[in-house]
Amino acid sequence: MLNGKHGKAIKKSMEIITTLGGIYGASRLVDVSSVQVAGVSYANLGEAGLEFLNEMAEDGKTKVLTTLNPAGMDLENWKELGIDSKFAKNQERVIEAFEKMGIISTCTCTPYFIGNLPHFGEHIAWSESSAVCYANSVLGARTNREGGPSALAAALTGKTAEYGLHLDENRQAELTIDVEAQISKTFRFGALGKVIGDGAEGKIVYIRGIPKASVEELKSFCASVATYGGIPMFHMEGITPECKSTQIPEETMTVRESDIDKVIEELTDDSEVDFVSIGCPHCSINEIAEIAELLRGKEVKKELWITTARPIKEIADRMGYSKVIEASGAKFACDTCCVVAPIKGRFKTLCTDSAKGCYYARGKNKFNTKLNSIEECLEAALK
Ligand code: F3S
Repeated sequence: MLNGKHGKAIKKSMEIITTLGGIYGASRLVDVSSVQVAGVSYANLGEAGLEFLNEMAEDGKTKVLTTLNPAGMDLENWKELGIDSKFAKNQERVIEAFEKMGIISTCTCTPYFIGNLPHFGEHIAWSESSAVCYANSVLGARTNREGGPSALAAALTGKTAEYGLHLDENRQAELTIDVEAQISKTFRFGALGKVIGDGAEGKIVYIRGIPKASVEELKSFCASVATYGGIPMFHMEGITPECKSTQIPEETMTVRESDIDKVIEELTDDSEVDFVSIGCPHCSINEIAEIAELLRGKEVKKELWITTARPIKEIADRMGYSKVIEASGAKFACDTCCVVAPIKGRFKTLCTDSAKGCYYARGKNKFNTKLNSIEECLEAALK
């Protein structure tokens, strides 16, 4: 592969993989069974990124199941979401390059909801921080936090260098977190992720004191702990499959109810809401069903986006949820989200149930934020 016998794209991919392997001291390559490629929005890629993708697409083809992260727009209903046609054209060129390589162009940060679902112990190469954390900690698969190009390289070769979280010794917990608070609902799990992320200094944590957590709560927690703490993996009692094979660290940190409340307060500005977005990470069908019930027969007064993967929206269509939601005036934003879409300057204050969403809304789009439960977010949209 490295000497170019298999073509230019594979040679370039193997150069990326072996360079990274060299830097991190890997002694061999491992086969991967699944890849998730981030860096899809034209707003982040620009012409230089697109040129790289087109070069790889000249003779590169995926060897394993590969899905894409959210793009800068809904690939079908971009006009309705206020995206200009020049951006849309460029975003379509990006998607075409990925499709030419055989990558499934469903753009979502929850690939595990649409059939890219690796199992315990599988080596994979994913590059979306929330999904990386979910894959390592909830599914028990093994992935480093790949960048867009290194994930693409793994997709085209079916290999990655064996270092970091592919190795047992690097998956051990270093800090125990005792949760002495009742945590329920996605926004409070997101707040917990920030408390731990801020306090753990990038360490892999062992979490106890959470008797149960839904898939949606875990995805919210994963997104937040990865965003605020750069933590690519945790062990949670009763959730993480390999929890038992890690030692419980002596060093402990306690999280109390007041810590969670403080974070919610911190992420809530005193400002009039003009934009509501739910689905960071992308909504599950369960969340959409809940939203439909809460919006049934009502009319939203603010811009309200429900962000999700297109196949999940298609289930919602079949179930009649989409009709109820759209009748209220709320909009689905498939393939994209309120962070990667180019909406800077369009709104002033975002209300969301996602702590990760608040981080990027403030940092990237310069919005004020309000962190609330899904019910409260919808109430704000209806006001
Ligand atoms: Fe997904 Fe966008 Fe949030 S990519 S995790 S919805 S910032």
